[in-house]
Amino acid sequence: MDGSEAAYVERIEPGRGRLAPRAALESDAPVVALDGDWRFRRCAGLRDLTEGFEAPGFDASGWDTLAVPSMWQMHDLDGDAPYGKPQYTNIYYPFPVDPPRVPDANPTGEYRRTFTLPAEWPAGGRTVLRFEGVDSCFAVWVNGVRLGDGKGSRLPTEFDATEHIKPGENLLAVRVHQWSSASYLEDQDMWWLSGIFRPVALVHRPEGGIEDVFAHAGYDHATGTGTLTVDAPEGARVTVPELGIDIAAGETAAVAVEPWTAETPRLYDAVVATASERVRLRIGFRTVAVEGGVLKVNGKRILLRGVNRHEWDPDTGRTLSEATMRRDVELMKRHNVNAVRTSHYPPDRRFLDLCDELGLWVIDECDLETHGFDFVSLSENPAKDPAWREACLDRMSRMVERDKNHPSIIMWSLGNECREGENLEAMAAWAKERDPGRPIHYECDTETRYADVYSRMYVEPAELERIGRREEDPCEDPALDERRRGLPFILCEYAHAMGNGPGGLSEYQALFERYPRLQGGFVWEWIDHGVRRRTEDGREWFAYGGDFGEAIHDGNFIADGLVFPDRTPSPGLIEYKKVIEPVRIRIDPQTATVEVANGYDFADTAHLRFDWRLEDDGEPVASGALHIPAIAAGTAVSAAWPDALRKAVASDGDGERWLTVSARLAADTSWAAKDLEIAWGQAPVSAPAAPITTGPGAAPEAAADGYALGPAAFDHFGRLTSLGGIELAGPRLDLWRAPTDNDRVAWGARDLAAKWRDRRLALDRLELKTLAVETASDALVVATRVGAAGADTSIDAVYRWRTDAAAPGRLWLTVDVTPNGDWDVPIPRLGLRLAVPAHLDRVEWFGGGPGEAYADTRTAARIGRFRSTVAEMQTPYVFPQENGSRIDVRRASLSGGADALGLLGAPHFALTVRPWTSEDLDAASHPTDLVEHDRLYVNADAALHGTGSASCGPGVLPAYRLQARPTAFTVGFEAADRSRAEY
Ligand code: GAL
Repeated sequence: MDGSEAAYVERIEPGRGRLAPRAALESDAPVVALDGDWRFRRCAGLRDLTEGFEAPGFDASGWDTLAVPSMWQMHDLDGDAPYGKPQYTNIYYPFPVDPPRVPDANPTGEYRRTFTLPAEWPAGGRTVLRFEGVDSCFAVWVNGVRLGDGKGSRLPTEFDATEHIKPGENLLAVRVHQWSSASYLEDQDMWWLSGIFRPVALVHRPEGGIEDVFAHAGYDHATGTGTLTVDAPEGARVTVPELGIDIAAGETAAVAVEPWTAETPRLYDAVVATASERVRLRIGFRTVAVEGGVLKVNGKRILLRGVNRHEWDPDTGRTLSEATMRRDVELMKRHNVNAVRTSHYPPDRRFLDLCDELGLWVIDECDLETHGFDFVSLSENPAKDPAWREACLDRMSRMVERDKNHPSIIMWSLGNECREGENLEAMAAWAKERDPGRPIHYECDTETRYADVYSRMYVEPAELERIGRREEDPCEDPALDERRRGLPFILCEYAHAMGNGPGGLSEYQALFERYPRLQGGFVWEWIDHGVRRRTEDGREWFAYGGDFGEAIHDGNFIADGLVFPDRTPSPGLIEYKKVIEPVRIRIDPQTATVEVANGYDFADTAHLRFDWRLEDDGEPVASGALHIPAIAAGTAVSAAWPDALRKAVASDGDGERWLTVSARLAADTSWAAKDLEIAWGQAPVSAPAAPITTGPGAAPEAAADGYALGPAAFDHFGRLTSLGGIELAGPRLDLWRAPTDNDRVAWGARDLAAKWRDRRLALDRLELKTLAVETASDALVVATRVGAAGADTSIDAVYRWRTDAAAPGRLWLTVDVTPNGDWDVPIPRLGLRLAVPAHLDRVEWFGGGPGEAYADTRTAARIGRFRSTVAEMQTPYVFPQENGSRIDVRRASLSGGADALGLLGAPHFALTVRPWTSEDLDAASHPTDLVEHDRLYVNADAALHGTGSASCGPGVLPAYRLQARPTAFTVGFEAADRSRAEY
């Protein structure tokens, strides 16, 4: 670029004319919020700027209006998208990598607004303009005078406007560029979006006021003493009325306090005051330290049950309302999450206030990622290049200065995926000097040269266990190795929550709970970044990479969260909640006791109440309260069953009897209403159901169009066509599932779906051949072979149909399965598929539920009786894929009108019911592509392959892999009379 006005865009320096960074403070000094409608023009690039737009006399009345804060590419996407569209890349820079240059086509937004300085605005002091976040680079004018420019999208920038503000009306003009030198530092895996996306305010700075405050509030667990020292301007006084503290800035008070922890987020209101300004602080006393190889808070090891959180709203992008931020924290707390890594930038500051208030451990991460240099010359990586040192340090200092007073923040993270470099080391050194009270986190510092914890991503359980034992592969340098081996370990990302999954969470949790060094992890990630759209006929869908016609993009890799874009919890979050439950409940029917182990690090269980429920085949028998005295953190008690429970268990019952014990919130909290279930345990308390005995069955008979057997009719190929008058198609052996993201998106060459589709197996296009149909004395026997065109692997399936002497309307099918050829690849499913009339869309079952579950995502499935509809049983993954299977089903019925079809396990099967086929799911790109058929498709599966986390991380663990091998399974079918029985 030439030396024109906009040269700052490509300068590496982070800005000019800015004020020094300082803490985000709640002050009584006057503030004018400048959010709302601004005049706006989006220019194509730097050669299309509006000359003189910043001048007070410029007439912008013909310009559009745009809300501040907002991201300009998020406007009217179902209309004509007047300001451009979102673009998604994970790692690649979406422009030629030629730092610090950026393309000529540099979408630029020109913003203007006037505001009236309140008449009571103080005459003295300074007047400052504060921008909480502008993506990615901007310049500011007040009344036509340029104040300066800034970069660092997710960081605040302040300018002194004192000399240029006047009484009455003032004009504020801001020019924002999508691309700048700073874009090289902001290559996070997310949508590229631009604009003034966080609030803007005019703030008064009184003479003799409180520019900055750094509250150091520690806690000595040995004595129960809190110490408070507040760095603030000389002459300021610090008061904490509740604690009787009244000290001068710089003095230290030591008093007995209740400490702050994420479990017990005790805050004390404090005021820092000078003659001209009062600042309100919320103090949480806590001390973070790495001691004896373990990360401790207040002297105790903590276990992080975390998530990585990007800021996302499906309608407004990274502009979030306070209500949405609160919703995130509440949802996390309600799902037993206790920690957040603010991947990969400091969040809106109000989010951190909520973490302090409601209680979450936070790793605050700097707005820094240069991942795209992995694909180009690494030597140019800004993390290494001295030319970028100041820009990197600037980011670190702006984060630390803004956020230093939050008790919830226990570590500073230098950024994400910048590889190694001296600039990172400098950032770490600066932060340690400025804030010795918080350890440094940085995942790419794998030899922990300057990080204070050893942190990695997506490590497999086997390696994790070695790390837990401090037996990991050594660093080359023995001194470094010794240091690292003595550090705590966290998984800053694991369990990639993309689509169906993540599988294998329990294995990780077991290791975290076994090895003190393993201090937990952060699931990748909290939310799917889908962009909400509507079809012309008004149906909602969520866009991902490529849906906006981007030249390069990374597809639906952007949809990998535990909550869907609209924040509905996904099955992954329900599973995570169960896996990380802070209280473990074990029922022992032998000794008639319940053991409750308190896995909190600090809190006792006084906030929980316990209850029990006894059910026969899922129908309530009895229930009651269970008195468990408050259990101290880290300890367990064993309680005898109360008399009422003993009696109920001993009473006569019918069917399978299960006992469930739940721990629930005893009272309302700031994040959930009372009675919310926090943890549960379940155990069978009756003898297992007797194996099915059918007695001698009826003989099949030849019929005009095939065969008849009891209530069933078959065609000439031996295919069931009706049962008790209900038309059916199938059932037949089926192995296919619409590949999940974890089957499909390969990490480390694990693209299982490609192997499934490969000509050698071609599981997606298996054909069925009937080899023989035989009528035995009490069975119809149908021999078949399943294989694909061009493949010589096949599976023989022999179907043996029998009636049931004890239940005339019932039919049993046993399938003998024998694979032929080389089946070295796990198979997606082993089961039956059949089609039933569409009106049978009410589903009830006794088995695992209420939500979907697969071999390695089944912890949250409890045994019970559940009712749902086919529509509700579909999990709306942003990218369509296998979903909705219910596990361990003993009995199910599909009903509608006067008809009901029963399915019976022998003993169990997995059930999926859909208005479309697996092939339809496989072919769809968005849920709105799926069209309901005039039938329902039912899968009754003997086994399902796990889900794993291979879209970014390990695949399915050996225990959950489904291998083709000779086997047999049995399923019962019955046309039930609805008036007689549900199932
Ligand atoms: C990690 C990265 C995240 C995200 C994730 C995959 O390597 O830090 O930002 O890209 O992979 O979804």
